[in-house]
Amino acid sequence: MNLNLAVIPGDGIGPEVTAQAVNVAKAVFKKFGHEASFTEALAGGAAIDRFQIPLPKETLDVCRSSDSVILGAVGGWKWDTLPGDLRPERALLGLRSELGLYANLRPAKLFSALKGACPLREDIASAGIDILVVRELTGGLYFGDRGRKQTDQGQAAWDTEQYSVLEVKRIAVSAFEAALKRRKKVTSVDKANVLESSRLWREVVTDVAKSYPSVSLSHLYVDNASMQLVKDPAQFDILLSTNMFGDILSDEASQITGSIGMLPSASLGSSGFGMYEPIHGSAPDIAGKDLANPIAAILSVAMMLRHSFALEEEAAFIETSVEKVLAEGWRTADIHSPGMKKVPGSGMGELILKELE
Ligand code: IPM
Ligand code: MG
Repeated sequence: MNLNLAVIPGDGIGPEVTAQAVNVAKAVFKKFGHEASFTEALAGGAAIDRFQIPLPKETLDVCRSSDSVILGAVGGWKWDTLPGDLRPERALLGLRSELGLYANLRPAKLFSALKGACPLREDIASAGIDILVVRELTGGLYFGDRGRKQTDQGQAAWDTEQYSVLEVKRIAVSAFEAALKRRKKVTSVDKANVLESSRLWREVVTDVAKSYPSVSLSHLYVDNASMQLVKDPAQFDILLSTNMFGDILSDEASQITGSIGMLPSASLGSSGFGMYEPIHGSAPDIAGKDLANPIAAILSVAMMLRHSFALEEEAAFIETSVEKVLAEGWRTADIHSPGMKKVPGSGMGELILKELE
């Protein structure tokens, strides 16, 4: 293959972990005989500092002329006081909607080498956690009508949740298709006892399920789902939800694996094009100290190879290399425990590279 990849390092620890991920991508391409070029672009705080806007048109152009995007993280204290539309996070939302990336896949898996990091009770952890959160990414509350107005009680503000049949259908299809390759169980999360948009969501998901007779579908209200996630996470295979609920549940799902520094994600549209990023944020408190765990960014490259380019063997090769390095006892600070061997972020990247070569 000959691939054109956009790289958006972003802010905080984004550039550190992205550099490691790109090294790994290069090593794998070389080993398997693929050609690839990498074009860097600015987004988030890095773009605000340079162009006074979080998502310059040049960056969108680079992404649009690429086969996929590797992203680090955006945001940081420095830009926290800017108005909503000029904050670094706007870059993420803009990239998602402009590139049509409506399906966000966030695997939350408890790695066997890291069982001790799970904050849940031992008997709950030992049942295993292997969940794929499928989050709708370009609709709902994040993109609905919003505003402020004067009322006799002072200023008021509103945001609206709206979903169309088309929007729900395509994300439900993503979830059911993913289920076919997993344990064939979809749990759709909504608030249909209160919200009209959730009632439509539930109708459409139920309808899509008819085309997937081998997959079992259940529905949970979001409050119950968040409780079940800590009570009995082993019951879940795929958690399908809206933009807002998926944002919240994916943080919870990742934290119960105890290793937010380990988890990758994919944002996909209807073509093979995707944007791949670690689910952790820019972590400004540890930026520049070579502490950041690059594994989530590296595993995001594996997701890219699998989902955008159908390079299953190459993807599995990265994942196995990561698992081997962990099995040898190497740990970055975030996943370190007594008796293990501590390495800096760059050291972890080098160990994985060595394993690949
Ligand atoms: C995420 C993040 C973003 C979101 C923020 C940074 C806008 O929390 O990717 O989960 O809410 O989608
Ligand atoms: Mg989030």
